[in-house]
Amino acid sequence: MISAELKVATPISPAANSIGLAGEHFAAATLYLLAGAAGLVWAAPQLAGGAYLSPHVAGITHLFTLGWLTMTIFGALCQLLPVALGAPVRSTRVAHASFWTFAPGVGVFATGLATGSVALHHAGICLVAAGVLLAVGNVAASLPRARARDATWAGVALALTFLTSTLVLGILLLHNQHTGYLGAARLRVLATHLHVAIVGWVLIMIVAVSHRLLPMFLLARGADTRWTPRALALLAVGVGFLAAGLMLGARVLTWAGALLLQGGVACFLRQAYGFYRARLRKQLDVGMRFAGTALGFLAVSAVLGPAVLVRGAALPRLATVYVVFGLGAVVLYVIGFFYKIVPLLAWTAHFRGRMGREPVPTVAQLYSGRLAYAQLALMALGVATLAAGIASGAAAVARSGAVLFFGGVLVFVTQLARIALGRAVRAAAVSPREAAA
Ligand code: HEM
Repeated sequence: MISAELKVATPISPAANSIGLAGEHFAAATLYLLAGAAGLVWAAPQLAGGAYLSPHVAGITHLFTLGWLTMTIFGALCQLLPVALGAPVRSTRVAHASFWTFAPGVGVFATGLATGSVALHHAGICLVAAGVLLAVGNVAASLPRARARDATWAGVALALTFLTSTLVLGILLLHNQHTGYLGAARLRVLATHLHVAIVGWVLIMIVAVSHRLLPMFLLARGADTRWTPRALALLAVGVGFLAAGLMLGARVLTWAGALLLQGGVACFLRQAYGFYRARLRKQLDVGMRFAGTALGFLAVSAVLGPAVLVRGAALPRLATVYVVFGLGAVVLYVIGFFYKIVPLLAWTAHFRGRMGREPVPTVAQLYSGRLAYAQLALMALGVATLAAGIASGAAAVARSGAVLFFGGVLVFVTQLARIALGRAVRAAAVSPREAAA
């Protein structure tokens, strides 16, 4: 049976009063993506050497996970809540306060992790925790006012819960860096932390948001939408089982969790396939190609999961490749959504008021399609080459992969700068009706 909910995908119209809020988050997130990609070039040989527990790797990881992913999600929620759920963020003041604690906090925290500085650890974790708790509280307070309590709503609520658990586990791990109190349990807590974070926080949020946005971006009609609730349920229960199994050292629970997670990823991939297949315009734009590539990486990571569970402790490089594909997937997916959301916001800010009075560019003319495809090639090849270098223990190959990825990020930054300034790539003016389309 096809849900009536998404038979017709309606186009998005940005919430004008939260464009600035989203914009500040997106700008800071982009700087952290750039810093993370540069750091990856430096640390790639360590990853190829199997040193995934190195403090440098932990610092750089959080430039991506907190700086790029979490910051982007916080900014996107400022737009998504009013537009998709009909519930504006409860307080824009609190949202700004969250930004001004979280944004500097990530840099201080990541530097503290990388250098082992206790002062920076403490300052960083205070700022990061304040930023996360303010954002979680603000979004949670907005949810009761939502018009629709659908899969997106439930997914956002679940993801917020997992982010809070991520923070608690992260603080335990940070404390362990000074005291070593976790002993041999460190690896199990670390594995729990990273799954709760990447799957529970980021992937569940992606599944929830995609339920609304993929059909809009793809102009998909009539897709069967029952796979999203299944994906959300399996991922949430799976993370719970996996976490319990890892923390208690109970193999049966851990395996049950891993299998549920595989089912959840499979349902999400099935849902995304349904939306892609039901699209009206057959030609895919670059944003949707980024998302499609990311889904491919997600499938690779899911396939590697059981192998990591069997041999992970003995083969640290295999575990690293598994995380690289998983993180690579969510990073690329978010970039794909950036290509859909940010030009639209910039267009609204620069040109909406001028429409009908003078020629304005289309949203797609705000960036170069050719450069965006070059960026996709560089980043996708970068992730694959980095993974190959780590798998084979070849430091030079891993570093080449990181350099390709960094090249892709540089292209992205130039595109975003152009979009933010509202400079059309082709000067050709279009009629107001074409611009609106
Ligand atoms: C919310 C605040 C967070 C805190 C306080 C925190 C803290 C930490 C700490 C202290 C470590 C190092 C553990 C060790 O080496 O013993 C770590 C590792 C890690 N964290 Fe987080 N984390 C946070 C959020 C996140 C998020 C949101 C993600 C992913 C979306 C994430 C992913 C990871 C990964 C993948 C590692 C392993 C890095 C490595 O191989 O060294 N963390 N975290």
